Amino acid sequence: MLPVEVQKDRLLRDRKGRVARKLRISVTDRCNFACLFCMPDKDKMSWIPNEEILSFEEIERLAAVLASLGIEKVRITGGEPLLRRDLDKLVEKLTSIDGIRSVDMTTNGWHLEGKAGALRKAGLRGVTVSLHSLRNDRFAKISGVDALPRVLRGIEKALDEGLRPVKVNSVAIRGYNDDEILDLVEYARERRISIRFIEFMPLDGLGMWDYSKVVSGKEIIETVSRRYSLAPEGRGTSETSSLWKFEDGRGDLGLITPMSEPFCDDCDRVRLTSDGKLLSCLFDTEYHDLRSPLRNGATQEELADAILKAVWKKPDGVGYMPWIKDGWAKPRNMNAIGG
Ligand code: 5AD
Ligand code: SF4
Repeated sequence: MLPVEVQKDRLLRDRKGRVARKLRISVTDRCNFACLFCMPDKDKMSWIPNEEILSFEEIERLAAVLASLGIEKVRITGGEPLLRRDLDKLVEKLTSIDGIRSVDMTTNGWHLEGKAGALRKAGLRGVTVSLHSLRNDRFAKISGVDALPRVLRGIEKALDEGLRPVKVNSVAIRGYNDDEILDLVEYARERRISIRFIEFMPLDGLGMWDYSKVVSGKEIIETVSRRYSLAPEGRGTSETSSLWKFEDGRGDLGLITPMSEPFCDDCDRVRLTSDGKLLSCLFDTEYHDLRSPLRNGATQEELADAILKAVWKKPDGVGYMPWIKDGWAKPRNMNAIGG
């Protein structure tokens, strides 16, 4: 247990008065999949060198400083987080930090069958598995690996081991999987798990994004309503998804609509990249290096100051950046940010 004093007066507040409470930690930019809407061309890919990647101890140290500034919830992301060996050790470290109430993970599911048990024992709460198609050939086309059966087994295993919540994330892309929305919904309902559809964002490595490929949340609701009765639950404060309940009570549906209805005004998230940079917004172009001060012996106080300064400058968000829809020079692709 790390001795962390929560300094209630020192919160991660930005210029607009938003306060960060959630932290997404990307533990690697590497991935064994190559999803179309995420990774650049495999040949053009250059991974972050190993020596620049934070060790678990370094992540723990930064997470503890962030917790002392009011962070309460952590989500581990990648690339693919389960490519980091012994990730359960990191989960154990993070769950024992004072002030951290939950640690969840977003994964592609490839290693979930093998690792769900250890992760659960280490204190992981829930998992969100990316699942964009239920057809073998299409899954392979979208994700670059013929892995559908294995990913589905991973989801079952996560449920069996008692990880909660288990959720499924689908990025709907016109012309690729938009005809599978009802099948994906049915899959989730059968297991009583939550499904979230995410609007395709211009953070893809291949540069295939254009607005015509975005399937909006509104369109998804229209499609799903053709088969099921849905009741709107709205979007909770600082949540990314607007929720809809099925009137028969089986499962629920979430829509994450950064493109058509951005939710930046009450955003409470910050991100830490695997090479130790703090990113205050998914669409931020400024990376705040925490690794150098950390490795140069900065005190907890100095790290806290650097973090507070970085978060203060958080951009207004994608809703206030209309040029993003016309294409923009991304500083990094999604695989290095972790969603
Ligand atoms: N747009 C929307 N979602 C994306 N993801 C990856 N790339 C994109 C993109 N360009 C999703 C992943 C994962 C989540 C963290 O973000 O599939 O489920
Ligand atoms: Fe890997 Fe996730 Fe990106 Fe797909 S979306 S390439 S699974 S990091």
